[in-house]
Amino acid sequence: MRSCERNNRRPIPIPGRAFDNEDSMVIELMSDHLEVITTLTEWYQSEWKPYYGKGGPGNARADLESRCNRDELPIGLLAMEDNQVLGTAALDRDVTTSLTPSVVGLLVEPTYRHRGIATALLNSAEDLTRRLGYQRLYISTTVLGEKLIQLGWEATGEVRFLNAERGSVYVRDL
Ligand SMILES: CC(C)(COP(=O)(O)OP(=O)(O)OC[C@H]1O[C@@H](n2cnc3c(N)ncnc32)[C@H](O)[C@@H]1OP(=O)(O)O)[C@@H](O)C(=O)NCCC(=O)NCCS
Repeated sequence: MRSCERNNRRPIPIPGRAFDNEDSMVIELMSDHLEVITTLTEWYQSEWKPYYGKGGPGNARADLESRCNRDELPIGLLAMEDNQVLGTAALDRDVTTSLTPSVVGLLVEPTYRHRGIATALLNSAEDLTRRLGYQRLYISTTVLGEKLIQLGWEATGEVRFLNAERGSVYVRDL
């Protein structure tokens, strides 16, 4: 039995709207949308080939399925609009830094980028982490540094990813 099917407890409400007024993007729990896991598996395999691609150490589907919890880590979040997934992120232990909880697997579908979806996912991840009783949240990234500083995160160290790229670790005190 998959972890998604085991857990029928009440969801933690997740606030978050990325767009103004008439836009209907909402942040929801992955546990409520098992139907998107196949799509997200393909996105992960294509975006993070060294880790999730053929011969890599990661298993995208298994990681995504493990995130179907509602009130304990790991928890997956989705940006959804009209039953279509636009982006995702999860609260989990970061396999590179071992820091937990971290925002991991943050990915927005390319045609929907630069509209605030990652920001909405980060805001919801913070809110959920606080509700779960943690006082800090981490993320390691090569690209989102400026945005994270704007959102109140602080740089706390350096990291080298599997593909040898160097990134920074950020922490958010909650
Ligand atoms: C990084 C990513 C999640 C951002 O999603 P998004 O919904 O476009 O993010 P937002 O609209 O909330 O914020 C965009 C801001 O993030 C920063 N940003 C995003 N991608 C960036 C990049 N490649 N390089 C530098 N800054 C970047 C910029 O400040 C940007 O502001 P702008 O839209 O005014 O240019 C998305 O580009 C993506 O999925 N990339 C591939 C996977 C990845 O790199 N994930 C990050 C792991 S930490």
